Amino acid sequence: MSREPGPAPDAVNEAVLETKRLTLSFGNDRDAEMLFPYVHGETGRQVTDFLLWDGPDTVEDIAKFFRLHTTGTFVPHGFHWLLRDRHGELTGARGTPMGSIGMNQRGPQGRCSVGYWLAPPFWKKGIMTEGLTEVLRHGFEQLGVVKFEAEVFVDNGASAALLERIGFKREGTIRRAQQKRGRWVDEHLYGLVQTDLSPP
Ligand SMILES: CC(C)(COP(=O)(O)OP(=O)(O)OC[C@H]1O[C@@H](n2cnc3c(N)ncnc32)[C@H](O)[C@@H]1OP(=O)(O)O)[C@@H](O)C(=O)NCCC(=O)NCCS
Repeated sequence: MSREPGPAPDAVNEAVLETKRLTLSFGNDRDAEMLFPYVHGETGRQVTDFLLWDGPDTVEDIAKFFRLHTTGTFVPHGFHWLLRDRHGELTGARGTPMGSIGMNQRGPQGRCSVGYWLAPPFWKKGIMTEGLTEVLRHGFEQLGVVKFEAEVFVDNGASAALLERIGFKREGTIRRAQQKRGRWVDEHLYGLVQTDLSPP
C-alpha cells in the first residue's frame, strides 16, 4: 500500500534538528519564562502585531503550549520547534531559546502551513532564514510534505522578504483575510514546493 504524503495525523514530533548556528527542539517551562517578555503585552507588540496570535497573558499559557507539543499528535496540534543558540555565540549561553516555528496540516494530508516568530534582539542576522530552511528541508525529505504555505499580512515586509529569499512564490493576495485587534487585514499567500527551496 502506498504511504500517504506528509506527517501521519497521529505522529508525535520527536525530531531535533541542527544547523550551523541553531538547534531546533521542543520547549519546556524554563523556555516559556525566557520567551514570555518578547511576546507579552505592549513590549511584545513588535512581534505579535504581525501574528494572528495576540500573545500570552501568562507564562503558563506558553508553557502549556510547549507541553502539548511534546505529547500531542500532528493532527490537530501540529509540530513545533524552538530555535536555540547552538553554540552560545548569539546569546552568550548555549541552548538559549530565541523564537519559534510551527507546522500544521492545511487541507489534504501533505499540504502544510508554517508560522514563525523571532525575538527582536535577534532579527536581521539570517537566523529565521537558517531555521525555517531546515524545518522545510526536514518536512520535504523526512516527513514527505508536498507543499508548504504561509500567510503574511501585506505590511509585513520582513516576513515577505524572508519567504522570497527561501524560495516561496507569492500565489495571491486575500483581501480582508483576517481580523487583527479589531482591524481587517489583507494577506499575501505564499507557497513552496520542494524544487523551489533555495539551498541553505
Ligand atoms: C519575520 C522574522 C521572523 C524575520 O526573521 P529574521 O531572522 O530577522 O530574518 P532574516 O534575518 O533571516 O532575514 C530574511 C530576509 O528578510 C530581510 N528582512 C529582515 N528584517 C526585515 C525588515 N524589518 N524589513 C525588510 N526586510 C527585512 C532580510 O534583509 C533578509 O533578506 P535578504 O537576505 O534579502 O537581505 C522576524 O522579523 C519576526 O519575528 N517578525 C515578527 C513576527 C512575524 O512577522 N512572523 C511572521 C508572520 S507571517
